[in-house]
Amino acid sequence: MKKLTRIALAGALALMSSTVAHAAGEVNIYSYRQPELIKPLLDRFTKETGIATNVLFLDKGLVERIKAEGVNSPADVILTIDIQRLTEAKDGGVVQPVKDNALINKDIPASLRDADGEWFGLTTRGRVVYASKDRVAQSEITYEELADPKWKGKICIRDGQHAYNIALFASMIAHHGADYTQTWLTGLKNNLARKPDGNDRSQAKSIMAGECDISLGNTYYVGLMMTNDKAPEEKEWAKSIKVLFPNVKDRGTHVNVSGMALAKNSPNKANALKLMEFLASVEGQKIYAEQVFEYPVMTGAEPSAIVKSFGTIKPDTIALTEIAKHRKQASELVDKVGFNEGPSK
Ligand SMILES: [Fe+2]
Repeated sequence: MKKLTRIALAGALALMSSTVAHAAGEVNIYSYRQPELIKPLLDRFTKETGIATNVLFLDKGLVERIKAEGVNSPADVILTIDIQRLTEAKDGGVVQPVKDNALINKDIPASLRDADGEWFGLTTRGRVVYASKDRVAQSEITYEELADPKWKGKICIRDGQHAYNIALFASMIAHHGADYTQTWLTGLKNNLARKPDGNDRSQAKSIMAGECDISLGNTYYVGLMMTNDKAPEEKEWAKSIKVLFPNVKDRGTHVNVSGMALAKNSPNKANALKLMEFLASVEGQKIYAEQVFEYPVMTGAEPSAIVKSFGTIKPDTIALTEIAKHRKQASELVDKVGFNEGPSK
């Protein structure tokens, strides 16, 4: 009865149950990731363990929802993307530590998980340069050179306040300090072809259209565009660009994560831990990374052939918690330099 109340609280209609016997119990997942992206992974988990999975997909307000549900929250595992949302879950007090689980902690590098065990990275995505195959000859690039006047009028980018850009800008502060980053952001802004606009994919479209030569974008969008049968025009956008991994000769390319956390009042904790162990396993990592065109965090698990075709990523190994510390300042600098107003006349 208690369980039913909990499920009802979560909004039974929003929960998508897998069709298996519930003999081994179930696990409730609150996810910022699209259900279709995680379905193959969850199906395999259920097949191996007999544990049914219920997914509540949210595109915002996940932390607020779990807070509002309080001790009766049915949430067991949180699946999300970006260091911003993982730290929000921790700071919001809706997760609990998993410190003593040898399996999970062994397989996930320390730089990609919370020191208190309150969140874990599962896959990484690089924030790379998309460059026009026709108009950009160079095969190497650095984030620093994006402020070089040689790129004047040639760069497209999405909103400077978007979490993906903020994390990158925060990593610049972590490596170079705030003063350097302010100057760098000003240089980057003045190299823009237009005001920041659109999403990562639409920058590739702009490159194909000749509006700009390079842009910043996440690696997985290239895989998603290349394979988008529903919107085949995106395949053309992807064909017009090549991926340049910034800073291969020094610190490496900025990466962010998708990740997981154990909900604070998890009613099915044993099953939740089994799922988390599966997500951190070689098998789970492979299925997940293949599906979402991301990089597995575990050495030994390979990315998909499409992702490999971009070249080899050398990830910046700075801890994500270090990057998270500078997010607020990065956001302030974006406003301070008027980044979203576009290039100065
Ligand atoms: Fe994304």
